[in-house]
Amino acid sequence: MADRFRRALAILALVLLSSQEARAEQELRFKPVPRQKPVRLFTETELARYNGQEEGQPIYIAVKGVVFDVTSGKEFYGKGASYNALVGKDSTRGIAKMSLDPADLTHDTTGLTTEELQSLDETFNNVYKAKYPIVGYTAQRILNEDGSPNSDFRPEDQPHFNIKEEF
Ligand code: HEM
Repeated sequence: MADRFRRALAILALVLLSSQEARAEQELRFKPVPRQKPVRLFTETELARYNGQEEGQPIYIAVKGVVFDVTSGKEFYGKGASYNALVGKDSTRGIAKMSLDPADLTHDTTGLTTEELQSLDETFNNVYKAKYPIVGYTAQRILNEDGSPNSDFRPEDQPHFNIKEEF
């Protein structure tokens, strides 16, 4: 009798132990991956689609490689508006120099003066980051020239950072 009891106890202990193991394994398997904000990478061709020419489509501009949704500023950036030339591309240089010259509508900041770089940062922070949601980044921001990931890249930390569900 005592033998049977002992055997039953051993089986019970085994069952309990294995169910604990199974739970631990499950917890391990379903351990949540830390949530990372998704980042959308825009190619020049993709960005060019959002140039404000099509009624009802979002309008995007890139400044310093950060892509902003400026659709709410349609009166500035929409078709025929004063600053339409800036959108659908990275217009960093134009923003820095307050220039709409097509030659300045590029991400290239080579040779800009300290004042122009300062003005660029002011407009970047006080206009674009303050007013418009970020929808992604251009390759210049995320990748190095050789195509390898840029380890200095940090997604801009702003509460309304989001990815548009377009597809
Ligand atoms: C005669 C020349 C210009 C005048 C009188 C002018 C005037 C203005 C005014 C009044 C605003 C503010 C609009 C508002 O917040 O309601 C503005 C915004 C702006 N201007 Fe100009 N501007 C001129 C030239 C330029 C040029 C050449 C550029 C080239 C990059 C430029 C780029 C911008 C940008 C990026 C904004 C911010 C738009 C936004 O809030 O999204 N401006 N301008």
